[in-house]
Formats: sequence, C-alpha cells, structure tokens
Amino acid sequence: MKILAIGASNNRHSINRLLASHAASLLPAASVQTLDLNDFEMPLYSDERAEQLGIPVQARCFFQSIGEADALVLSFAEHNGSYTAAYKNLFDWTSRINKAVFQDKPAVYLSTSPGPSGAASVLAGALDSAGYSGARVIASLSVPSFDKNFDENKGQLSNSSIRQNLLSAMQLLHREVVRSGLHRAQLRAL
Ligand SMILES: Cc1cc2nc3c(=O)[nH]c(=O)nc-3n(C[C@H](O)[C@H](O)[C@H](O)COP(=O)(O)O)c2cc1C
Repeated sequence: MKILAIGASNNRHSINRLLASHAASLLPAASVQTLDLNDFEMPLYSDERAEQLGIPVQARCFFQSIGEADALVLSFAEHNGSYTAAYKNLFDWTSRINKAVFQDKPAVYLSTSPGPSGAASVLAGALDSAGYSGARVIASLSVPSFDKNFDENKGQLSNSSIRQNLLSAMQLLHREVVRSGLHRAQLRAL
C-alpha cells in the first residue's frame, strides 16, 4: 500500500508535514512518500499566466504523485483561519489539470497548530470542499497545541487519547484501501 503524506505548508520545519508523515508511518505495512511543498513552488496562479506558461511541471508531478498513491494523508496548516498561500497556489494550478485533484483517493484529513484550536478552521473548510476536490475523506482529526502533544524527540504523539484517535483514523483508512482493492479485483475477475 502506497501512502502519500502531505503537509499543506511550505515551512521548512512544518509541523503539519511531520504530523502527516507520522500518521502514515502508523501503518507499518505501507510505503510512505512525504511531499515537501517547497519542491512544488510555482508563480502565483492567474488565468493570464496559465495561458502564457501552460500547466507547470510541478503541478503535473503533484497530480501524478496523487494518482500513483493508494491513499492520502493531508495535514493542513492554518494561516489566518484558512489555507497557506503555498498550498492554495499548488492546489489551484493542479485543479486546472482536473478539478478532482485528489482523484477519488481515500484520505485522512488532519490539521495542527501550536495553539489550542489545532487549526480546526482550515480543517473544517477543507472537509467542506473535499467533495469538489475529489477526496474521499475517511476520517479527520485536529491536533491542538502541537508542541505539548507531540514529542519531536520520539517522533510520536505524547497525548494518549489523541494518539489513539489518530491510530483509529489510520486503521479506517487501511480498511478502506483493502476494501476498495478487493472490489477492484472482483470487478477485474468478472
Ligand atoms: C501568517 C500566519 C498566520 C497564522 N494564522 C494562524 C491561524 O489562523 N490559526 C492558527 O492556529 N495558527 C496560525 N498561525 C500559526 C501557524 O499555525 C504555525 O505557524 C504553524 O507552525 C503552521 O504550521 P506548519 O508548521 O505546518 O507550517 C499563523 C502563522 C502565520 C505565519
């Protein structure tokens, strides 16, 4: 099973990238690819630039990486209650390839921030629009006060109830990937 872990932030030391990659690692049988949004930097989207430049290779690579994954773990950083500009720009460019950017992949949506809200606003917005972006969200979780609840030395959540909730979310994702794999195999056998 291939899991693509994405922190929706271009911070070099992104706590959301850390959380997404940690969540993916909870499924030991999975192979995990973690994306760094800095590898997908593009000019700020505009219709004129899209006409001049076409779709940049970074957006095509992002779309392809999603297409090659069995499941997605996305963790959203919150800037002023919403997406980071880096994520939104990448998403907007990629949506010009196909508005179903997430290609009907099963996904766990997460968010975290250093504050007690755990970036819950951006997570709510992302969940609201998941249908339009082609994400099949199986479970979601906001992790508040990241520094208090995540032990960076051990690379794991130190808060046991959040740890259990995250594990349950990842197990649901695993079950869904197995279920849809079996379904595809049954269709092929017909
Ligand atoms: C411009 C800006 C706006 C921010 N707005 C919010 C916010 O609305 N809610 C929040 O919880 N944290 C906010 N923060 C703090 C971020 O949650 C914090 O920088 C966090 O580390 C971002 O996640 P990342 O490390 O994955 O990039 C903001 C930070 C910046 C720089």
